[in-house]
Amino acid sequence: MNVIITGASRGLGKAIAHVFAQNGHDLVLTSRSEVALYNAVQELMTMYPDVKVKAKAFDLSVKGQAIEFGQWILSLDLSIDVLVNNAGLFDPGSVHNEPDGTLEHMLAVNLYSAYHVTRSVINRMIEQKGGHIFNMCSIASLKAYPNGGAYSISKYALAGFSTNLREEMKPHGIKVTAVYPGAAYTDSWEGSGVSRKRIMEANDIAKMVYMAAQLSPQACVEEIVLRPQLGDL
Ligand SMILES: NC(=O)c1ccc[n+]([C@@H]2O[C@H](COP(=O)([O-])OP(=O)(O)OC[C@H]3O[C@@H](n4cnc5c(N)ncnc54)[C@H](OP(=O)(O)O)[C@@H]3O)[C@@H](O)[C@H]2O)c1
Repeated sequence: MNVIITGASRGLGKAIAHVFAQNGHDLVLTSRSEVALYNAVQELMTMYPDVKVKAKAFDLSVKGQAIEFGQWILSLDLSIDVLVNNAGLFDPGSVHNEPDGTLEHMLAVNLYSAYHVTRSVINRMIEQKGGHIFNMCSIASLKAYPNGGAYSISKYALAGFSTNLREEMKPHGIKVTAVYPGAAYTDSWEGSGVSRKRIMEANDIAKMVYMAAQLSPQACVEEIVLRPQLGDL
């Protein structure tokens, strides 16, 4: 399978890349920072020398670049088997006092990125009559919490995107899965003072995404909800 992952330079995206590569699947990766992306590619190529890894950096919060990423994927002329819309950013804040522009930025990074990347490649997937799209939502897509603010709004919107796409893609044989993780230890949590033992590992989410991609064509995991054993923070 060819597995396309956005936000693959670190965190959940990189963990998902590892799980698919361990199982012999080829990767097409992107993130915003070129250096971080190429470090991740080096790591993956060293650990899994038989796996083909292609990578190019794009700022997916910019509509033109999200579309360019999609066009680059199409130019590779590969079957698009799995697309993981994972790139995202958490800016904590509250609706009543976060800086002006926070919502616009959160929507651009967390929602429009997935929307434009998906729209750029979806006709190819429809022609293929198959494929699987994962959208990395959050428990912040399901439940409001203090300091959620614009981030939570953007993740509710991403869940709306995902459930709409699921309905639309049913007759085309394309699966759509919304992933709703609670807290999982990645760079987003560095310096937060939260213990690694209190929250999930990035690999926990990666394993569930991988497993959901293994089912028969007639089965679709619509939602994956994961929380730390002790519940949300
Ligand atoms: N970790 C959690 O507890 C948790 C819980 C629920 C949901 N999530 C969601 O899971 C996803 C991954 O989170 P994470 O914790 O792994 O985050 P992370 O460690 O901060 O990594 C974020 C990834 O997204 C990329 N990215 C950010 N802005 C981008 C942009 N404008 N264009 C392209 N790539 C961009 C980053 O690329 P560069 O660094 O190269 O710029 C990086 O690869 C996010 O959507 C997040 O909201 C995370």
